Amino acid sequence: MAKKTIADVDVKGKKVFIRVDFNVPLDDAGKITDARRIEMAIPTIESVLSRGGSVILASHLGRPKDAPDPKYTMKPTAVKLSELLKKPVEFATDTVGADAKSKVGSLKAGGVVVLENLRFQPGEKNGDAVFAGELASFADIYVNDAFGTCHRTDASMYAVPKAFGARPKVCGFLVEKEIKYLSNAISDPQRPFIAIIGGKKVSDKILVIKNLLNICDKVLIGGAMAYTFNLAQGESVGDSFVELDKVELAKELLAAGGDKLKLPVDTHISDKFGADGNKKIVKAGAIDAGWQGLDIGPETAKIYANIVKDAKTVVWNGPMGVSEIPPFDEGTKRIAQAIADSKAISIIGGGDSAAAIQQLGFADKVSHVSTGGGASLEMLEGKKFESVEILDEK
Ligand code: 3PG
Repeated sequence: MAKKTIADVDVKGKKVFIRVDFNVPLDDAGKITDARRIEMAIPTIESVLSRGGSVILASHLGRPKDAPDPKYTMKPTAVKLSELLKKPVEFATDTVGADAKSKVGSLKAGGVVVLENLRFQPGEKNGDAVFAGELASFADIYVNDAFGTCHRTDASMYAVPKAFGARPKVCGFLVEKEIKYLSNAISDPQRPFIAIIGGKKVSDKILVIKNLLNICDKVLIGGAMAYTFNLAQGESVGDSFVELDKVELAKELLAAGGDKLKLPVDTHISDKFGADGNKKIVKAGAIDAGWQGLDIGPETAKIYANIVKDAKTVVWNGPMGVSEIPPFDEGTKRIAQAIADSKAISIIGGGDSAAAIQQLGFADKVSHVSTGGGASLEMLEGKKFESVEILDEK
């Protein structure tokens, strides 16, 4: 990537608008349950503050319906940020209204203000130029550090940097790192290059599997999507989850993948969805009616772990089974362990596989855990993001 980063611009005495992705999970009491997206934005924020700039942070949270909704206020993220930065953080109770204007107007060097949820304004999803112009009038420099939202063209991702015109518009360190791993590392990978793709639906990952089959040495399939592949091979899957309308597509992927595409050899089944049914391990594609597959079996985990052991680059996206219900988290854990033990460059996609790596305490043992869900999938599909393309070249 030849995009300028925040390190390339002089921020002294400047107001810096940073589009972050503080779309973090909250519990019913509105408490943040995973602050990683906020933590990962800290290096960019601190880089501005330590060089005498001030920071205006803008993000969306959840999917409010173009109007203020207290359930989706950014307030808890401002509180968390203040804790992490160990300094006061102002919170504006609107996005481009009187409070935002006043707090942005009185911002001094070293100051930080978090604006209220961008999606409380209809202009955000519409990409409205007037709304974008108002946000752009707040600052001297635009920074995109919102990797998780880079696949969107919401106003703050595209119309706002556009409205900055000749003023600097650069990426933050998180976006730089995500692109380094999810795009650069896999476009010229060290081989063998292995992808492990899991999750429930093959339909979510068709383009990812197609793209990876072109560039990987092996693509290992796990999760419920494997049963759609088994069905495509004419095998029996009992009551397992399948996408009947994707069987033809699975046949095409099998034909295109040939020896590169690996399916489980055994599967952990139950006569009930949940932890308390009868359970057994059977050969993959040999599941009787009344039983459903809920995880890869131990033999598959062993084979996949051995393949990972010899890999030089590994990309993993999607759990191997119903990882939220033990013992059907076994396959996912075994894969996480194998990746943590390997010396390969390892890139973990967002969502469940990222959560598994975190929960098992392996985050420091892998090269990169993406903060993006949809965005990391689209990168693995080989897509380019308009929100990044619009930023200044080095
Ligand atoms: C995400 O969590 O994937 C991003 O924050 C984007 O959110 P969205 O899917 O609501 O646009």
